[in-house]
Amino acid sequence: MSVRMAPPLPLIFLLVIHRAYSQKEHVNYIQPHICALKDSSVLMSCTYTYPTGLQIMKVFWTKTNVKNAKNEFPDLSKDPEYSQRLRYLGDKQQNCTIRLSHVTQKDSHKYYFRFTTDKDNVKWLGKQGLTLTVTDLQVEAPERVTEGHNVSLTCKSSCTLTDRATFIWYRNSQPLTERRDRNNQLLLLSVRREDAGRYSCALHEHTYISPAAHLSVMYPPKNISVSISPSGEIVEGDSVTLSCSSDSNPPAENSWFKGGMFVGSGRIYSISNISSDHSEEYKCKSTNEHGEKYSDVVTLNIMYPPKNISVSIIQSGQFWEGDSVTLSCSSDSNPPAEISWFKENQSSAVGSGQSFNALQSGRFYCEANNQHGSQRSDAVTVTVKGKSSLFTLSKVKQVNLFRCFTLLSLL
Ligand SMILES: *[C@@H]1O[C@H](CO)[C@@H](O)[C@H](O)[C@H]1NC(C)=O
Ligand SMILES: *[C@@H]1O[C@H](CO)[C@@H](O)[C@H](O)[C@H]1NC(C)=O
Ligand SMILES: *[C@@H]1O[C@H](CO)[C@@H](O)[C@H](O)[C@H]1NC(C)=O
Ligand SMILES: *[C@@H]1O[C@H](CO)[C@@H](O)[C@H](O)[C@H]1NC(C)=O
Ligand SMILES: *[C@@H]1O[C@H](CO)[C@@H](O)[C@H](O)[C@H]1NC(C)=O
Ligand SMILES: *[C@@H]1O[C@H](CO)[C@@H](O)[C@H](O)[C@H]1NC(C)=O
Repeated sequence: MSVRMAPPLPLIFLLVIHRAYSQKEHVNYIQPHICALKDSSVLMSCTYTYPTGLQIMKVFWTKTNVKNAKNEFPDLSKDPEYSQRLRYLGDKQQNCTIRLSHVTQKDSHKYYFRFTTDKDNVKWLGKQGLTLTVTDLQVEAPERVTEGHNVSLTCKSSCTLTDRATFIWYRNSQPLTERRDRNNQLLLLSVRREDAGRYSCALHEHTYISPAAHLSVMYPPKNISVSISPSGEIVEGDSVTLSCSSDSNPPAENSWFKGGMFVGSGRIYSISNISSDHSEEYKCKSTNEHGEKYSDVVTLNIMYPPKNISVSIIQSGQFWEGDSVTLSCSSDSNPPAEISWFKENQSSAVGSGQSFNALQSGRFYCEANNQHGSQRSDAVTVTVKGKSSLFTLSKVKQVNLFRCFTLLSLL
C-alpha cells in the first residue's frame, strides 16, 4: 500500500524544484511605474532570472496577461502599433530592457515581460507588470490679470515627472529666460502690458510643447488722443468728426465734453453743418473698470466769412477843430477780414483798414473780405465841414471864450 502511495523519485524532485522556483519573482521591473512625457522615448528596464541549465528560447513584452488563441501572450513587437517604435535593448540572459519611442497617451498601459525556455513547462510572465502613464502638459493660468499684480502659471502634467525634469516656458513661441519660479511654475511679478500673450511650456531636451494658454493683462486707459476729420481747415457748414482713441484693456467707454459740459458718448462725436458756435474746447474721457483718463483739449478753429458788419462814426476830439470824420468798420470773421472803404456809387475803393478818415461829405460803407466770402455794411451819411468854415467856427468860439474870461476877471 505504501509502495503504491509513493510517487517515483525523479518526479518528486522536479516538483520540489518547480515549487521553489515559482515562489520567487523571476522578473524584476526596476521602475514599476513610469510617467513619461508625450512624444518622448521611454526606457522600460527589467531584469529576469531562470533556473541554471535551461536555455532561453524567446524573450518579449506583452500588454495583456491573457493568452491568445495560440495559448501564448501576444508579442508587442508584432503589434503594428508598436513594432516601429519598440526596441529590445536587453539580452537572452538577464536584462530585459526595452525602449519605446514617440509615446502617446494611447500607450498608457500595463506591460509585462515574458520569456520561454527550452523546457516546455518553464516559461514565465512577469505578472507584476510595469505601468506606463503618458502625460501631456497643460498651462494653468488665469485668463486675465490686472497690471501690477503678481501671477503664477503652472505647467501641469497628469502624472509626476521625474524630479530632474527642467521646465521651459515660452511666450508667443519665444523662450523666456527670466523669472522661473518653482520647478513647474512661472511667476510673473508686477505684471506689465507686455506680459500678455500665449504661454506654453515644455521640458528641457524634449520636443513636445504644451498647447498655449492666453494671458490677458487688464489696464486702465492710457495714451488718449482725439483726432479731427477732415484734418485740414474747417469751414462753417462742414461736417466734422472727432474720434477718441485710447489704449486700454478691456476697451474703454468714451464720453465727450465741450467746454467742460458733457455732450455725448461713444468713440466718435459728429457735428454736421458746423457753425462758429462750435469753436470751443473739446475733450474726450475714456473709462474702463480699471480707471479713467481725459485726452488733451482740442480746439476747433472754424473758418467763416465776414458777418454782422457795421460802420460806426468815431467822434474824436473837438468836432469843430477837425476837417474830417473817422469811420470804423467792425465785422466778425475767421480769419480776420480785409476791410475796404467805398463811397456810395463809386466803383473804386476810397480807403482800406479798419478805420477811415472821411475828408468829404457823402455816404460811405465798408466791405469785409476773407477767402470764405465778403459782406458789405449799410452806408452811413457823413457831413464834413469845409476847412475854412471850421476855422471860422473855432475863431468865433475862441473870441467868445476870451470875452468870458475878460468878464470874469472884471468881476
Ligand atoms: C540593461 O540594458 C540596458 C541597455 O543596454 C542598459 O542601459 C541597462 O543598464 C541594463 N541593465 C542592467 C540591470 O544591466
Ligand atoms: C508680488 O510679489 C512680491 C514679491 O513676492 C511682493 O512683494 C508684492 O507685494 C506682490 N504684489 C502683489 C500685488 O501681490
Ligand atoms: C500713443 O499712441 C500713439 C498713436 O496711437 C503712438 O504712436 C504712441 O507710441 C503711443 N504712446 C505710448 C506711450 O504708448
Ligand atoms: C446750416 O446752419 C445754418 C445756420 O445755422 C442754416 O442756416 C442752414 O440752413 C444749415 N444748413 C443745413 C444744410 O442744415
Ligand atoms: C453783431 O455785433 C454786435 C456788436 O458788435 C453784437 O451786439 C451783436 O450781438 C452781433 N450780432 C450777431 C448776430 O453776431
Ligand atoms: C446811387 O445810386 C442809386 C442807384 O444805383 C441811387 O438810387 C442813388 O440815389 C444814388 N445815390 C447817390 C448819392 O447818387
